[in-house]
Amino acid sequence: MTRRPKRGRKPPDPSAPAGADRARTGPPDPPEGGPPPSRRAFLWKAWLGLAGLAVIELIWVVVDSLRPRRRDVATADVVVVAGPVDHFAPASVTAFPAGRFYLVRTEEGGFLAVSRACTHLGCTVPWSSEEYRFVCPCHGSAFDLHGDVVNPPAPRALDLFEVRIENHIVKVNTANVRRRRAFDPQQVTWA
Ligand code: FES
Repeated sequence: MTRRPKRGRKPPDPSAPAGADRARTGPPDPPEGGPPPSRRAFLWKAWLGLAGLAVIELIWVVVDSLRPRRRDVATADVVVVAGPVDHFAPASVTAFPAGRFYLVRTEEGGFLAVSRACTHLGCTVPWSSEEYRFVCPCHGSAFDLHGDVVNPPAPRALDLFEVRIENHIVKVNTANVRRRRAFDPQQVTWA
């Protein structure tokens, strides 16, 4: 009886040497009409990688646009124009609550911009004109006109902001606070 070959398979060639049919083993032929599986997997991974890069770039653009620009900060509410030099009498203290500092005009006529934050634990320190000193309401630290400690527990003098005098106008840069251990005459700005 003659065996009929299965549908779709080539009948064995009787003239071929024995074992030739068995030697043709290996990965199955790819299905018609599409790339082989390994190529499809590669294309899928490449597509995923590109999509991931696009998402990362989008996040970066959004985060970058929300970050404050140095340029913007430098021009926005950082420099406080205190006023003309003659506005401030020698040995006077003028509060600038929005700038969080006191403008001190020393007895000799120089200027200091003293932070109102106590160097002990950060309470706001009011100026007492009766006592002629800053007195912290929290733990009793006291500071003289220059912001130097005259009564502990504050460990060091009140911080300073940079003072500039341009065209006889006093300006205070509140962008950077300068820590100091004690008062030094070189900290004073002169008109
Ligand atoms: S916070 Fe000013 S003395 Fe303690």
